[in-house]
Amino acid sequence: MRNLSVVPISNAMDSVIDGNSSIADRIFHLPCGGIEQKGVDSLDGLLFVVNETSQLIGTLTASDFHQLDNVLSVNMKVKNIMNKNFKFVTSENSESQAVSIFDAHSGIHAVPVVDEEGRMVSVICKASDYKFTVPFSNADIESVFAGYKLLNTWHHRGYLRNWGATLPARRFVLESIINKCDVNSKILDVACGTGLMSFYLAAAGFTNLYGFDIDENLINAGKNLSDIKGYNVDFQIDDAFLPSCDISSFDVVIMLGWVFANFDGKNTPIDEVANSLFSTSYKIKTGAYVFLDLYDDLSNFNVYKEAAHFPTVKYEDLKPVFEKHGFKLVDKCYDCSTDVKVIYLLKKT
Ligand SMILES: C[S@@+](CC[C@H](N)C(=O)[O-])C[C@H]1O[C@@H](n2cnc3c(N)ncnc32)[C@H](O)[C@@H]1O
Repeated sequence: MRNLSVVPISNAMDSVIDGNSSIADRIFHLPCGGIEQKGVDSLDGLLFVVNETSQLIGTLTASDFHQLDNVLSVNMKVKNIMNKNFKFVTSENSESQAVSIFDAHSGIHAVPVVDEEGRMVSVICKASDYKFTVPFSNADIESVFAGYKLLNTWHHRGYLRNWGATLPARRFVLESIINKCDVNSKILDVACGTGLMSFYLAAAGFTNLYGFDIDENLINAGKNLSDIKGYNVDFQIDDAFLPSCDISSFDVVIMLGWVFANFDGKNTPIDEVANSLFSTSYKIKTGAYVFLDLYDDLSNFNVYKEAAHFPTVKYEDLKPVFEKHGFKLVDKCYDCSTDVKVIYLLKKT
């Protein structure tokens, strides 16, 4: 029998939503780090929609938001955008039913179990795919972070623990790299923090990994973590605006949570920043992939007004710059989990 985990409904409540709630309610209420605390990280961003009598009536994933694209409205009810043709299993032989579903649908990672009245009793999850194995135990992380008081915040821990690769944005980046790139591909994580992406990639078998960040503490913590596992990630302290490595040697350049997503909007317009970067320091090799994230379409709908501390940057604002520098848009992914962002995958042609 495949390795499965069964999450009782009491632990999955954070993933259960009322079909009459609005999209805005749902997005506001997804708590940063709450996924980890509730122990339902393996639910893979899947939300279960119930009616007034707690019967399961649908499911919701980031791709349901994705399909709506520009017609998303904050006042829409969850039940109007949910997936009504969802997979579920019944209480009897639920695990073998779940295995059949997982075998037939590689994209499904979790299925709800319902009782005779159609109410949810638990969720059965695939045990973590080898690709997204959490690289460190909590004890590893605590032992390293104890030496860096400044890193004593939920998000550094949370990213490195279990929800790092379960958030849609992270999965999108990891799955794209795993599906498109050879394990020997040379991969750079710009402004890498403590090196989360490199660790997941190392755990998935990638060997040619590089990361830099301007923050010495983050890089040192990354190096310490790397040592624990014997990962061979090349971490450096460096300024992403003036990187000292040869950017044109990389097959993949990841730029998450850096200038595009954290653009302060105060000085130079973002298209000028992008143009300058791709003209000088970021001469990307032909055929190489670039990942970057923007507070884009969803932020335009003010869904995430309270948390939108950065100005919106639309893909259209940057499209002329991307085209000028020979980038083709390959794919994109909405992430409405802890941040409302859109992650873009570009390829240099
Ligand atoms: C929001 S975090 C994103 C971290 C990581 N990329 C991720 O997606 O989890 C922003 C990171 O950018 C780094 N950073 C900010 N300005 C930088 C610069 N000029 N050069 C290199 N790193 C920078 C910060 O130290 C921080 O680690």
